[in-house]
Amino acid sequence: MKRLLLIPALFGLLACGGGDTSPRQGFDRPMPVPPILAPTVGIGGADRYDLVAQAGTTELVAGKPTLTYGYNGSILGPTLRMRRGRAVELAITNQLPDSDHAHTNLHPHGLKVPGDADIFPGLEGMGLMPGESASVRFTPDQPAGTFWYHPHPHGATGRQVNYGLAGYILMDDAVSDALPVPKTYGVDDFPVVFMDRHLRADGSLAYMEVMGDRDFMLGNHVLVNGLHLPYLELPAGTVRLRLLNGSSTRRLLLAFEDGRAFHQIASDGGFLEAPVAHTGLLLGPAERAEILVDLSGDRGQSLLLHSLPFAAPEEEAEAGMGRADIPLLQLRVTRAGTALPLPASLASVARIPESEATTQRFLGIEDTGDGVINGQLFDIDRVDFTMAEGVTEIWTVKNFADVIAHPLHIHGGQFQILDREGAAPAPHERGWKDTVLVNPLETVRVIMRFKDLSGRYVFHCHILEHEGIGMMGQFEVQ
Ligand code: C2O
Ligand code: CU
Ligand code: CU
Repeated sequence: MKRLLLIPALFGLLACGGGDTSPRQGFDRPMPVPPILAPTVGIGGADRYDLVAQAGTTELVAGKPTLTYGYNGSILGPTLRMRRGRAVELAITNQLPDSDHAHTNLHPHGLKVPGDADIFPGLEGMGLMPGESASVRFTPDQPAGTFWYHPHPHGATGRQVNYGLAGYILMDDAVSDALPVPKTYGVDDFPVVFMDRHLRADGSLAYMEVMGDRDFMLGNHVLVNGLHLPYLELPAGTVRLRLLNGSSTRRLLLAFEDGRAFHQIASDGGFLEAPVAHTGLLLGPAERAEILVDLSGDRGQSLLLHSLPFAAPEEEAEAGMGRADIPLLQLRVTRAGTALPLPASLASVARIPESEATTQRFLGIEDTGDGVINGQLFDIDRVDFTMAEGVTEIWTVKNFADVIAHPLHIHGGQFQILDREGAAPAPHERGWKDTVLVNPLETVRVIMRFKDLSGRYVFHCHILEHEGIGMMGQFEVQ
């Protein structure tokens, strides 16, 4: 087994591993809150959302205009608010500048949709060229939660996401309506996406320029909703933050500077059964966590959200993983608010019984110079697994590498973690998941129902550079 290609000295020099900006700088620009896109009336009365992938200019760092990509704007995209059981028509138009990586498509990450809506208009041909459009219709039927959308053109996903193409999908249902948690978007309920990026001295985005980036693409700035070190004004009460790690590779150990406890209420695919208290929460690429923070005693104060240092495998650490304390977002408690009692229970998350599974599969992730699953690179003409609609399967995922954690993501909806190295998952990992961090040399078992799915889907490492190299496979539900 060949080791990852890595030149730590050179890499360390050029990508200094984040956290190089002291908390005394910054915090002079408000955190942008992506607007909610009001739907228009689509075919059959569906809620129609039109997204246009385009280029623009964003000052990621104040005073340094940067070329970025966004949907309907210069970076990120509007928030799509969907409702369980309500038909959606989702449309994407490519207005990216012409280049050799300009083809695009759209993937609603975490949604359980038919294969032809999962990445549309498909991976074949890698999607739309500039000037082209496509749309799909589906009716979401899954619990309320925080999801996201991003492009998925094989070979260009990482670059396009790195340039800023990503947005939130918030699903609502009767359960979320009834829960006494903050739910006024932009007032006490906020999307907060972290994006680890490598900025050059002039503020421009560097992507895959350094030897080693294909293994550990760690940046030197962690942006929050598209800006470096913004602040957010909040009420002195309970607030809800919908955290998304939109980084390629960087894991974040999220915490408040005073070490206060906060409560996680949802994981990737919706509410947990009950709130889980944390003082630090590790979030890998593509993972989401909704948290409640009590700011009722903080009127007139500010509070820093940062990522704490953590132990990482040596080669990751050499590249900058977990090494620094990274300031992220300053919360300013500027107005009156309401402290809400923490709900004792949130939603029912029935454990899928192991006995329901009719098939067991094995996914071995290896780190060769090429990055492979079960000894193979992604091949669009190869379907790795075929299953009948409605079955339940257990997938055993083993990370053979001792150098890096791989966040494995399965398309087509949500699964549950059965165990890590045979041990039951921690309480915050007992909810619905679509991405699971598989630590070095670890074996994780997940269970998933392939119900109401049809057609082709992919599974892959959500380190997008690994996905781009081919750490991805396909399954087909027949
Ligand atoms: Cu975030 Cu293949 O997806
Ligand atoms: Cu996905
Ligand atoms: Cu990986």
